[in-house]
Amino acid sequence: MLFRQLFDAETSTYTYLLADEATREAALIDPVLEQVERDLRLVEELGLKLTRVLETHVHADHVTGAGVLRERTGATVVASARGAPCVSRKVGHGDVVRLGGLELHVLETPGHTDDSLSYLCEGRLFTGDALLIRGTGRTDFQNGDAGQLHDSITRHLFTLPEETAVYPGHDYAGHAMSTIGEEKRHNPRLARRTRESFIAFMKGRQLPPPKKLDVAVPANRACGLGKPLLQT
Ligand code: FE2
Repeated sequence: MLFRQLFDAETSTYTYLLADEATREAALIDPVLEQVERDLRLVEELGLKLTRVLETHVHADHVTGAGVLRERTGATVVASARGAPCVSRKVGHGDVVRLGGLELHVLETPGHTDDSLSYLCEGRLFTGDALLIRGTGRTDFQNGDAGQLHDSITRHLFTLPEETAVYPGHDYAGHAMSTIGEEKRHNPRLARRTRESFIAFMKGRQLPPPKKLDVAVPANRACGLGKPLLQT
C-alpha cells in the first residue's frame, strides 16, 4: 500500500493518501479545502487516480475539500449515513470500501459527533477526532456524547490488536501517529480511568467553540461547496 500523511498547519488537520500500488487507485481521507491543489498535485506526481474521498465526520474546524475533489476527479465521496447529505455513498458499521485490492473497513465510533467513523486498512486505523494521540475529540457540540465516545473507543478501537497504528484527524502537540497499545497505556483520558470519570472530565472542560464552527458545519454538510449536491 502506498501511504502518505499530509498536514494543514492552520487547522492542525491530517489528511491521508492511500493507494493500491498495482491498480494506482487512490483515496484521500479528510481533505482540507485550502489544500486541494497540493493534494491533487501529489496524486498526479505519484501516478495515481483519485477514486475515493472518505470523511471521518462532518468537521467543525475546517472546510472539507471533498466536493471540489469530486468535481475535479469524479471520485466518490464516502461518509456516514448520519452525516452530510451531499455524499455519494453513505456507509455504516461493518461496511467495506474497496480501493483496487485494498479494503477499508468502516467502524462507527460516535461520541465526538454522532456521525463519526473510523476506517481500518491493513493495520492502519484512521480515527478522525474520536481517538487522538494522548487525547480524544471534544464532545460538546454536533450531538457529541462523552459516554458514547468512551464506549466507541473502548469497545471498537481498544479491542483491535495492540500494534494497530493510530492515525488521528488532528494533532496539536507535534505527534504524527501512535498505536492502540500505546494509547491504552498512556492516553491520560482513558488509561486507568472509569467511564464515569471520563464523562465527568469531558463535561468539566470549558472550551471556546471552534473558530470556524458556524461556517464549517453548514459548508461541510454540502461537501465544502456552497449548496448541497444531488447524490451521484
Ligand atoms: Fe471534529
